Amino acid sequence: MNFRPLNETVHICSESYEDRRQFMQDKPQSDYGQLPVIYFVTPTYPRREQIPELTRLAHTLLHVPRLHWLVADDQEKCNDFMDTLLYRFGMPFTHMVSPMPSKFRNEKPAPRGVANRRAALQWIRQHNFTNGILYFGDDDNTYDLRLFSEIRKTQRVSMFPVGLIADYGVSGPVVRKGKVVAFLDSWVAGRRWPVDMAGFAVNLEYMAQYPYVNMPYKPGYEEDLFLRSIGLQMNLIEPRGNNCTEILVWHTQTKSKKLGMVRLESKYLDDRSNLGALLHNLKLMGVTSTTESEGRNALISKNGREKPHSKILS
Ligand SMILES: *[C@@H]1O[C@H](CO)[C@@H](O)[C@H](O)[C@H]1NC(C)=O
Repeated sequence: MNFRPLNETVHICSESYEDRRQFMQDKPQSDYGQLPVIYFVTPTYPRREQIPELTRLAHTLLHVPRLHWLVADDQEKCNDFMDTLLYRFGMPFTHMVSPMPSKFRNEKPAPRGVANRRAALQWIRQHNFTNGILYFGDDDNTYDLRLFSEIRKTQRVSMFPVGLIADYGVSGPVVRKGKVVAFLDSWVAGRRWPVDMAGFAVNLEYMAQYPYVNMPYKPGYEEDLFLRSIGLQMNLIEPRGNNCTEILVWHTQTKSKKLGMVRLESKYLDDRSNLGALLHNLKLMGVTSTTESEGRNALISKNGREKPHSKILS
């Protein structure tokens, strides 16, 4: 292992440390004041499903007290739409952009999410946060709320099985007598820690002892090399989820489709109807673009029949 300390440029779009939520899981915010903060790192990238995924994830995280959501977007420029969205949820967050370096873009497979996680690690380091828990939570996973109380107890590194991984439908530790002794995962490839990114959590005080914490741009080996960079040893691992018998996180993957397209003359995209504003919003969200010349004409109907655009929109 020959690691260098991280030296990423961190580009913050917006952030808030304010928690405007009054209640979480039927208790007032003040009941949770003493808990260590969970730094929940979500790498994300522009695509049609991005905003729906983040919305759904936010609605899980809104139930979780003392959580700071680090959303790192794989693009060059900040987008205001995302800032507004994240602020509206009312929980503490940091929105940053962390594009994949261009030299990796054409690799197959490309090391997706690495620049984002590296930027988040750099951010944590810069702030010297040592009282808290780090967790890498992708935007398309499904999280059981019990996951959060489990990982909050992490002293060094905790691990637990992840559902819906590859052929076995699961990846996770093998536990005997309350100790992790091996791993069940259908792809080993020399990995000492063959675990999914969502299958572990790290205590920041523990991580702070390792100045060379890193996550190299090596597809498939991100988890292994990250865990090696923080000096993980088998006997340090704390099994969670009832000795790794329960699934608290699922590697659900949303089916991805290419950008939608609506063919409609731009003269109708004004405020005579909702369509101008609606399609504008969908464009900001990266879901649908409007075109004048490509694809099939937008179908607008009334009483079961297609109507000419001019009839409805003029
Ligand atoms: C895990 O297993 C050990 C050893 O069998 C046991 O002592 C411990 O109580 C178990 N932990 C949980 C949370 O069930």
